[in-house]
Amino acid sequence: MAPERPTLRWTETGDEAVAETVLRALPDWFGIEDALSGYVAASGRLPTVTARLGGEAVGFASIGPVTPGTAEIHVIGVPPSHHRLGVGRRMIAAVLARCRGTGVRLLTVKTLGAASGDPFYERTRRFYDAVGFAPAAELPDLWGPGAPCLALAMPVPEDRTGWTNRDPLSDAPPPPSPGPPP
Ligand SMILES: CC(C)(COP(=O)(O)OP(=O)(O)OC[C@H]1O[C@@H](n2cnc3c(N)ncnc32)[C@H](O)[C@@H]1OP(=O)(O)O)[C@@H](O)C(=O)NCCC(=O)NCCS
Repeated sequence: MAPERPTLRWTETGDEAVAETVLRALPDWFGIEDALSGYVAASGRLPTVTARLGGEAVGFASIGPVTPGTAEIHVIGVPPSHHRLGVGRRMIAAVLARCRGTGVRLLTVKTLGAASGDPFYERTRRFYDAVGFAPAAELPDLWGPGAPCLALAMPVPEDRTGWTNRDPLSDAPPPPSPGPPP
């Protein structure tokens, strides 16, 4: 049986409660308390997409601007109980849909690079690769010793369909065009 589709919602002012619940379920990735608190606080002020299944929070992603043409995934997480069910892929699709038509042409994310030897972040890099990110830069000194940073990027596909103004989380077609001016 196909897994149930999560309900995705955007909140412009973030959702600290969901961020904290999800990140505390991921100690292998977010085990440093100061870092976790920083991500939770950031998620409380950044546009955030949350994923729920039957009321249970099963993921979130918070995005921030980098330049007018680039947005960055500041933090993303899915609890281990719901890994590999397509929640992350759907949240990335929602982020791309939100960026489309806003002048944002590039989506970026930073993660721990392969030189760290961390087996958990190796899974993270596989995810980013699978959804379309490509390595853009290695920044070995950004996060300090033992934490080599890998910056990844992917283009935001241009919308040439005229569907720019539809609700990106809805499968419904866009409202009819008013047509050319008289
Ligand atoms: C990274 C993360 C958000 C992915 O979410 P997810 O819902 O599990 O991912 P999806 O099910 O949408 O996976 C999409 C594809 O990515 C790849 N992928 C995801 N997890 C993978 C893993 N552990 N190993 C190999 N490939 C993986 C697969 O190709 C997968 O497609 P498939 O299952 O059809 O083969 C989630 O694993 C997570 O929260 N990880 C811990 C926190 C984290 O790494 N945050 C980012 C810090 S920079």
